[in-house]
Parts: sequence; C-alpha cells; structure tokens
Amino acid sequence: MAALILTASLLLFRSTAASPNPNCFQERPHGFCKQLDIPVSATSESATYDVPTVDSNIEAISWAQYEDTWSTPKGPLRIIKNTTTSGTFNIHAQLCIPKSSGKNTLQILSHGVHYDSRYWDPELDRENQSYVEASLKAGYSVLTYDRLGVGLSDKPDAYNVVQSPLELEILRQLTLMARNGSLYAFAKKAAPINTAFNTTSKPSKIVHVGHSFGSFLTSAFIAKYANLTDGAVITGFILNKYLGKAGMASFAPDFAPTSNPPFDRPSGYIVCEKTGIQTIFFGGNPATAFTPQMLDYGNSIKQPVPIGEFASAYHIIGLVATDLKAPVQYMLPEFDFYICGGDCKDLPEFKTLNETYPVAREIDVYVHPNTGHAFTLHNNATAGYQVTFDFLARNGL
Ligand SMILES: *[C@@H]1O[C@H](CO)[C@@H](O)[C@H](O)[C@H]1NC(C)=O
Ligand SMILES: *[C@@H]1O[C@H](CO)[C@@H](O)[C@H](O)[C@H]1NC(C)=O
Ligand SMILES: *[C@@H]1O[C@H](CO)[C@@H](O)[C@H](O)[C@H]1NC(C)=O
Ligand SMILES: *[C@@H]1O[C@H](CO)[C@@H](O)[C@H](O)[C@H]1NC(C)=O
Ligand SMILES: *[C@@H]1O[C@H](CO)[C@@H](O)[C@H](O)[C@H]1NC(C)=O
Ligand SMILES: *[C@@H]1O[C@H](CO)[C@@H](O)[C@H](O)[C@H]1NC(C)=O
Ligand SMILES: *[C@@H]1O[C@H](CO)[C@@H](O)[C@H](O)[C@H]1NC(C)=O
Repeated sequence: MAALILTASLLLFRSTAASPNPNCFQERPHGFCKQLDIPVSATSESATYDVPTVDSNIEAISWAQYEDTWSTPKGPLRIIKNTTTSGTFNIHAQLCIPKSSGKNTLQILSHGVHYDSRYWDPELDRENQSYVEASLKAGYSVLTYDRLGVGLSDKPDAYNVVQSPLELEILRQLTLMARNGSLYAFAKKAAPINTAFNTTSKPSKIVHVGHSFGSFLTSAFIAKYANLTDGAVITGFILNKYLGKAGMASFAPDFAPTSNPPFDRPSGYIVCEKTGIQTIFFGGNPATAFTPQMLDYGNSIKQPVPIGEFASAYHIIGLVATDLKAPVQYMLPEFDFYICGGDCKDLPEFKTLNETYPVAREIDVYVHPNTGHAFTLHNNATAGYQVTFDFLARNGL
C-alpha cells in the first residue's frame, strides 16, 4: 500500500472561479470550515466489466435499458478480466470544526450518486437544511468529501477506474488520516492559515455517515473495518425487496457532455435530467414536503456519475458486520422511491438486521415522515437530524 502524501507542498488550491465552493476558509454561525484538496494514495481490486460504451444521449438511455434488463448478467458474472487499480487521487474535501468546545467526535460523510459533497451542506438555506451546519451547532466536527469521479475530485476513467472497491479504500485512507492526526495537521497547515484550526489535534471518536450509494460504502466500511468506526448512520438505504426497483431508466440519463447544461466529462459519465432528479430524490406531499426552490436547487447541484460505479456496486452491498460493536442507525425517508419502492414504513426486517449486526451495541431504525430520498432537500430536515444526534448522544458520541 503506497503511503499517503501529506507534505504541505503538495496542497493544491483551486482558483475561486472554478469552484462551486469558492471559499477556502469560512466562518459559519456555529463553526469554521476549510476546503482541502487531499492527495490520497489507494490500491484496490478492480475489473473490466461488460458495460456498454456511453458517448451520446441515445447511448445513455440504451445503457439504462441494458442495466435494467432482466437477462443482463449481474455482479461478478459481468467481469471480463480481474485487474488491480493503484494511484494517487486528488480528493476534494471540507473539514469543519465547531465553535463550541465540542465533543471531539468527527463525522465522516459519504454522499450518494448524482450529487457531490454539497448534498450535505446545501447553500439554499443552511440554517434549515444543512446537515453540516446542524452538526456544528450540535458540537460535532464534520468531514465531507467529493467521492472519486465527482465534484472537484479527480474524474478518471468511468469504466475501469471509478469502482466501488477503490472508493471504499479511499474512505479507509481518509479515516486512517483522521485517526492518526494527519488529517487535522494537513488542515492546520493548509492556506489560508487560521488559528481556529491550531488547537485541534485529532478526534477521539469517528462516526461514519452515508447517503444512498454513500451508505452502501459506509455499510461495507463498518463491516470490513469494524475497529475503525465508533458509530454509523445509514441514510437513504436499507436492504429490502424493492431496492432499485425503479431502475436506472428512472434517472432519465443523458451523456454528461451533451446534457443541458453540459458537463466537462469523458466517455461513460451520465447525468440525470431534471425529471430524473425529481423522480429519484424528491417525495412526499408536494405541498408540504419540499418547495419548488428545493427541487430547482437539487437540480442545480446534480453531478454526473461514472457508470463503472454501478457495475461494481455488488462488492459493497449486503456484507455482514460480524465484529461491529459500534451502534448503527438507519435513518429512512418515509417516501424513498428508489430505495423502498416509494414507502419505507414496515419494510425493515429486524431479523436480517440482527444477523447483519450480531454484536452491535444498538441497531436503531427510524422512518422520518413526509420526506423523499434527498433528505437534506426537504422541509423538515433538521427535525430528522435531531433524531440522529439523539441516537449519537445516547451512545456517548
Ligand atoms: C496516517 O495514516 C495515513 C493513511 O494511512 C498514512 O499515510 C500516514 O503515514 C499516517 N501518518 C502518521 C503520522 O502515522
Ligand atoms: C475474478 O475474480 C473473482 C473473485 O476472485 C472470481 O470469482 C472470478 O472468476 C474472476 N473472473 C475472471 C473473469 O477472472
Ligand atoms: C428557517 O426556517 C425558519 C422557520 O421556518 C424561518 O423563519 C427562517 O427564515 C428559515 N431560515 C432561512 C435562512 O430561510
Ligand atoms: C497556527 O499554526 C500555523 C501553522 O502551523 C502557524 O503558522 C501559526 O503561527 C499558528 N498560530 C498560532 C496563534 O499559534
Ligand atoms: C484493526 O484490526 C486490524 C485487523 O484485525 C488490525 O490490523 C488493526 O491494527 C486494528 N486497528 C486498530 C485501530 O485497532
Ligand atoms: C433483534 O434483536 C433485538 C435486541 O437483541 C431483539 O429485541 C429483537 O427481538 C430481535 N428481533 C428479531 C426479529 O429477531
Ligand atoms: C418532522 O420530523 C420529526 C422527526 O422525524 C417528526 O417527529 C415530525 O412529525 C415531523 N413533522 C412533520 C410536520 O412532518
């Protein structure tokens, strides 16, 4: 395993013009945030999958039909050749620390597909929607990052490089950095120097939080690396018979460079049309669950997805967390169309959960009312965050 390169000379700051998060340093009502570009070295298994090429809008829909077709081979049956991927990737991240002396607990947040890290921190109305802002107010430090292939992180080959085992390894490397103090040392040295980051050494506890595909990753992470986490919050994902029933065609995918607006991406990156964003991410009573502004905003921050991620997703679904002692919370939006076939109530199977987490300190399952898959972009979001903070607090986190 190649070591992470942490020398300050390798810090790369984006020009403000290129960045949707223009400020390298921000003072927030309840904390301080720094934007970081972290070189992460990672090596993992990978594969050449039997996946159609996507270089046009027509091929994007055709790809979705192929994925959704019942006779298309699934999982490892699609592997043409097993490979290994190794590299140093630029991962764009934001580390925020609370103004209050805080709990010294760091939450590491992994976003889902079709979005980047802004999903956790929507600028539209941070006070009422941002999970980052609410966490700072509650005394937590928060690391958000753009997963590989997304946002301001590197965007390598969509078929053969951006695959789930590599993304899991990147999450592990970020967690190791947070645990051994090198992440906070990196943030302290990163320009602009601000003394707010001087007193911070390293977190005493780390909680992993995911949304959707980020919850696949988080679930796999806590199953494989149980001793690297102190607690997990799985949002917008639970194994059940309706998972993914809506199919990839529900994304209304375009090829990213020929979408409207276009994205600067290579072959194999697809992006949802606005109808797809609503279908997948918004739910509940349209008069009370979300506003038209939230849907517009949710469409404005959407991100293309490299399609190799879907072909490789089977690696990170359904792993048993035999050794996990830490507590786990499932935070499910009531009307999650893509994950729960439109209704998460009464779906969780407690027998399966007990078998998945046989020694976990607590398994909490909560269904948050009148909300769709993109939890942070609905009206009652902060009341849901409080349910998570209560879960963390009663577990000493
Ligand atoms: C901390 O962990 C990272 C990630 O594995 C590693 O590259 C780095 O050398 C470690 N630093 C220290 C000071 O142990
Ligand atoms: C790839 O590796 C998997 C797991 O080791 C194995 O089951 C599969 O047969 C291999 N596939 C090919 C095409 O080599
Ligand atoms: C947050 O919600 C409260 C209560 O609905 C409202 O008064 C306030 O204006 C909202 N904040 C912002 C920034 O819109
Ligand atoms: C904070 O840390 C930076 C970088 O190590 C250093 O240059 C600066 O003098 C420190 N400030 C204070 C007040 O300690
Ligand atoms: C976690 O477990 C692995 C494998 O058992 C071990 O190598 C590693 O040192 C442990 N890490 C910590 C932080 O306890
Ligand atoms: C799951 O485990 C909890 C705690 O041990 C127990 O109360 C519950 O009855 C179990 N549920 C099922 C369906 O096995
Ligand atoms: C808001 O969310 C909280 C926590 O889930 C819930 O108790 C409450 O009923 C919700 N309010 C509405 C109006 O849906």
